[in-house]
Amino acid sequence: MNTVHQFVFGIYPYIALSIFLLGSLLRFEREQYTWKSDSSQLLYRGNLRMGNILFHVGIIGLFFGHLVGLLTPAVVWEALGISHSVKQAVAMAAGGVMGALCLVGLLILLHRRLTDPRIAAVTRTGDKFLLAWILLTLLLGLSTIAVSAGHMDGGMMVQLMKWSQHIVTFRGDAASYVADAPALFKAHLFMGMTLFLIFPFTRLVHVWSGFASVAYLGRAWQLVRPR
Ligand code: HEM
Repeated sequence: MNTVHQFVFGIYPYIALSIFLLGSLLRFEREQYTWKSDSSQLLYRGNLRMGNILFHVGIIGLFFGHLVGLLTPAVVWEALGISHSVKQAVAMAAGGVMGALCLVGLLILLHRRLTDPRIAAVTRTGDKFLLAWILLTLLLGLSTIAVSAGHMDGGMMVQLMKWSQHIVTFRGDAASYVADAPALFKAHLFMGMTLFLIFPFTRLVHVWSGFASVAYLGRAWQLVRPR
């Protein structure tokens, strides 16, 4: 395991997560008027609804799929009687479906953003960069399905689970679990981690608000006038 590998998979995850958390906090504290999804619905409705729904259903499915799939300890799957190969097959199928929905939605959004002159006029370089980054991460993730299909024993998946679980539990040997992973997986991991790093500097901050909006369900009544 060389120094670059140790850095990218052992240290970089902490840099990305720190910038993600602290950067989000600072942006919320200092730049609240820029904290928004930057909706373009008023400029051009077009096929926004279709693209936006497909993209969000896919990406939110992928987000929770990764969260549960990577961070649930292996003992829990064993206690549930779910073998590694079955879990891998479910992950490939669910990830494939959600990834495909997300890809179609993203291509619709990209096409809309780049071809409609009103939207193109308000699109910043950072917006294009973000969409391109998500697209590349997604394409890499989808192509790992083909590699995984070549070994259905769940071994690679377990290594990826160990890597992420050792990262979040601050154990220093995390990088060793992905040392032998195919380059495609490593590239996908790097792109995915970097998405957290760039998060606070983009419109992605709206994701915090999207999830936080669930709190409205249990919110107290708003008293508009005393009596
Ligand atoms: C948590 C729940 C979420 C809510 C409620 C939400 C809501 C929204 C809304 C209202 C828009 C603006 C659409 C418009 O132009 O009118 C948007 C755009 C966008 N969202 Fe989300 N979002 C959520 C989660 C996510 C997640 C997890 C991602 C992860 C990458 C994401 C990425 C994006 C991107 C890239 C755009 C811009 C798309 C474009 O170019 O038009 N969102 N979102």
